[in-house]
Amino acid sequence: MPTTLEAPEPKIAPAQTDFLPLEGTDYVEFYVGNAKQAAHFYKTAFGFQSLAYAGPETGQMDRASYVIRQNKLTFVLTTPLRPGNPIADHIYGHGDGVKYLALRVPDATSAWEETTKRGGKSYLEPRHLTDENGEVVISGIHTYGETVHLFIERKNYRGVFMPGFRKWETTYNPPSTGLEYVDHCVGNVGWNQMNPWVKFYEDVMGFRNILSFDDKDISTEYSALMSKVMSNGNGFVKFPINEPAEGKKKSQVEEYLDFYNGEGVQHVAIATKDIVKSVRDLQSRGVEFLKIPATYYETVLDRVGKIDEDLAPLQELGILIDRDNEGYLLQIFSKPVEDRPTLFFEIIQRKGAKSFGKGNFKALFEALEREQELRGNL
Ligand code: FE2
Repeated sequence: MPTTLEAPEPKIAPAQTDFLPLEGTDYVEFYVGNAKQAAHFYKTAFGFQSLAYAGPETGQMDRASYVIRQNKLTFVLTTPLRPGNPIADHIYGHGDGVKYLALRVPDATSAWEETTKRGGKSYLEPRHLTDENGEVVISGIHTYGETVHLFIERKNYRGVFMPGFRKWETTYNPPSTGLEYVDHCVGNVGWNQMNPWVKFYEDVMGFRNILSFDDKDISTEYSALMSKVMSNGNGFVKFPINEPAEGKKKSQVEEYLDFYNGEGVQHVAIATKDIVKSVRDLQSRGVEFLKIPATYYETVLDRVGKIDEDLAPLQELGILIDRDNEGYLLQIFSKPVEDRPTLFFEIIQRKGAKSFGKGNFKALFEALEREQELRGNL
């Protein structure tokens, strides 16, 4: 019996009613305890390249920020240089985590005006940053927890990242692992908070709910969660929102909320064109992924039908497969990338499918629970 609650087909609205046109994810910024080392980790393990830097040498006295890039994927790693400021407090509370999900917009002033007048709480009024390479306009609103959406307008900027940053050149340039762009970013919110945040994305940002999963979809013998996927009009930006659900034991979302000390980004899903190659490369560089039991692969092709890939390398690497009525997808989930069981990454290759791997939830959550049990938090 299907339990997925497909959202009703949206009424097609004329393009000019999209009050918040988005061109995609501009960057993801992490507040971390040691940005220099984090940048080295993401370069070495994930295959990013150095792009830009800001810190005391560039006149930014309270922090250091390293910008790294791989194809269309840009990460910023920021650390405070002293205690007693919002960045240091963020790390004290949450550990390393995502602070900014920065979205590329054609007009950051309009994005701020349109969202704040619909109830969005301002984080940053539109600010014009200029240097010899032109201008970036930046604004922002708060979302769940202490997470912020920045709106980045860079159509009049030719510099390497944005004013205030200098190019970061280094002789240490590990090759790419084939990671391409942000496919989606998932937020974990508290009990009974999923629907209020769904409403926030609908009302404030003009997103719509494209998929819903209830606790019957996403439950194992022990723990459960609920999820709704929010998408902007052109589908370039997708934010699934999870909340814990009652089970026999503690939900993985609850474990996250305990250790992150509040709501925040659970995982960033990154697209690749060749998941076998990317994951083999990532594993060889030390990225750890959840292990999937061999029994999963005994029946998976009965469920998903014919696929282009050989099953053996997928099983060897622990890559999951799912199909919807538009195609299939291949996906894998990393272990948390910090000591707190909080943020992790998903690597995803879409072959037509626009969904999120519902058929894998059970296998996946059982794998997550084995890890949770090892930490004594189940
Ligand atoms: Fe995901």
